[in-house]
Amino acid sequence: MTTITKLESKVKELSKLLEALKELNAAIDLQDIYQGILDQMVMIAEAKEATLWVHEKEKNRIVAKASCRVSVDSMPMPTLTTGEGIVGKVIQTGEAELIKNAENVIESSATYPCLHAKSILTVPLHAKGQILGAIQLVDKENGSQFDNRDRELAVILAEQSALALHNSQMYDELYKMLVSMIRMLAEALDARDPLTKGHSERVARYAWLIGKRMKLDAEVCFELYQAAILHDIGKIGIEDRILRKTTGLNESEYELMKTHTEIGARILSAIQPNRFFQKSIDTAMFHHERMDGSGYPKQLKGEEIPLFARIVGVADAFDAMTTVRTYSEGMSVREAAAELIRCKGRLFDPDIVDIFIEILENCSYDLQTFPRTGAV
Ligand SMILES: [Fe+2]
Repeated sequence: MTTITKLESKVKELSKLLEALKELNAAIDLQDIYQGILDQMVMIAEAKEATLWVHEKEKNRIVAKASCRVSVDSMPMPTLTTGEGIVGKVIQTGEAELIKNAENVIESSATYPCLHAKSILTVPLHAKGQILGAIQLVDKENGSQFDNRDRELAVILAEQSALALHNSQMYDELYKMLVSMIRMLAEALDARDPLTKGHSERVARYAWLIGKRMKLDAEVCFELYQAAILHDIGKIGIEDRILRKTTGLNESEYELMKTHTEIGARILSAIQPNRFFQKSIDTAMFHHERMDGSGYPKQLKGEEIPLFARIVGVADAFDAMTTVRTYSEGMSVREAAAELIRCKGRLFDPDIVDIFIEILENCSYDLQTFPRTGAV
């Protein structure tokens, strides 16, 4: 199988993944879902305190993921082993458990600081034949005890919530898979040329920092990171004799090298639905365009060049200048910064260069102390 065929099959896998994602709400944040489910339960059951527990089967543990009116941090034991305590039992049996006159239930102290609880109602979160976790409610707000009616109500509500939770957990897993596949594609590219190892990751890191400093939304920053990490993916279609050449390229070789922009855009365009990757497609296509129209492949000028491509253009040039290649020693960070300043306006977006220089100044031009991204 050629590298390009392998890549195409990976792109097809990605497409399937994205189709699945489309079915789910892309704005889901798992932590918000845990809290939302718990808050709703507390309101309907009129509980005084509550916690939501998730069963992490592969790690053989049950973890408190959300709390209401009690801080998970203040709990004596926010993690249980499978089967431990009332929560563990409910998760194991799938049966709700109502304990009245709970003052003497010593077990409850293991999961919850509720030694003086009057009643404890624990219901499983059951969806698609799996028990995902449990919700534990402690005491009614009005001081009375939970009764069987509360138990029935809580069970019904937990069943409905569990379905939403199941979808969110699935989305979260798919999202993590997507991120790791994007990384894998970039690493597959970098692995072809040991001299540029880590280039995609570093460019993505610089681009993300620029986006953050520009105060772009967190989601936009992630999109930028994704676009930046894939910016050179088209190089996978460039022959080794050109890609790994250690001396300068002649004119015809350079022309072939330049096609990596269009190849990259074509590869990423194969991913359906396109909207997830439109900015990555544009970035792969236009990251070598320059402000004065001297770039390639379309000789776009100024703001005709998409914002992400202008950002990646700066990050890419900086990394190329500061990395040791066989044909060049690599400049110091200060020298590369001076070069960006010298070319700003003509080759690079001046505002983006200024922002990047600020970032460099803030870390005293020392890449070792360069801030890490929180993008992925
Ligand atoms: Fe490139």
